[in-house]
Amino acid sequence: MNDKIKLEKKLAAKEAVKHIKDKQIVGLGTGSTAYFAIAEIGEMVKNGLKINAIPTSAQTEEQAKSLNIPLISIDDVDKIDVTIDGTDEFDAKLNLIKGGGGALLKEKMVAKITKKQIIIADSSKKVEKLGAFKVPVEVLQFTSDYVCKRIEDFGGKGRIRRKDGNYFLTDEKNYIIDADFGLIENPYEVSDKLNNIEGVVCNGLFLDLADIVIIGNGEEIEIFER
Ligand code: A5P
Repeated sequence: MNDKIKLEKKLAAKEAVKHIKDKQIVGLGTGSTAYFAIAEIGEMVKNGLKINAIPTSAQTEEQAKSLNIPLISIDDVDKIDVTIDGTDEFDAKLNLIKGGGGALLKEKMVAKITKKQIIIADSSKKVEKLGAFKVPVEVLQFTSDYVCKRIEDFGGKGRIRRKDGNYFLTDEKNYIIDADFGLIENPYEVSDKLNNIEGVVCNGLFLDLADIVIIGNGEEIEIFER
């Protein structure tokens, strides 16, 4: 990560944590941008902020524990007050592609029950149309070839994600298929089609879920609201 991108991520994270208030339930996203927000939240907790947080991945859980951020399970709550998470792309409608880090399932569960979903990013994540970043699709392992074929049936190209020579495994031990649809005209249609394939656990199109996107742009911040 170069210094410019790092600064932009940090600026967005610092702005986002201003939305967190005492006694709230806070969703903690995953990835290199969310990392900076969680570090800030750790400082706030150290200085007396009282919150309960819900992590979206094992990686985030580990960071939060190391900072003594009190954690609870998503099963303990009906609503989350505010969540801060990163994204791989966002468009003018604040629709997103997420899952570059493979944590899309818990990220989407948390986003769906969050009252104020704040997305933080560096300026490279803003796009006119979603789709240059391949859509991560989490699938049950034994269905991965089947899902790739069904993705081809409607014009996409799916590839099972690999890491260090092996198939990448999510926290829940599922595979990820990175699906290329080119630039996506209608993300709602693509999302529905993906969700209709047997074996698909979750897809990385986060539609109508973000309320605010905060990006660092050079030394400034830009805020987009739905
Ligand atoms: C994790 O699965 C992803 O959804 C991340 O939120 C997304 O990939 C953004 O990551 P960075 O903040 O590291 O770019």
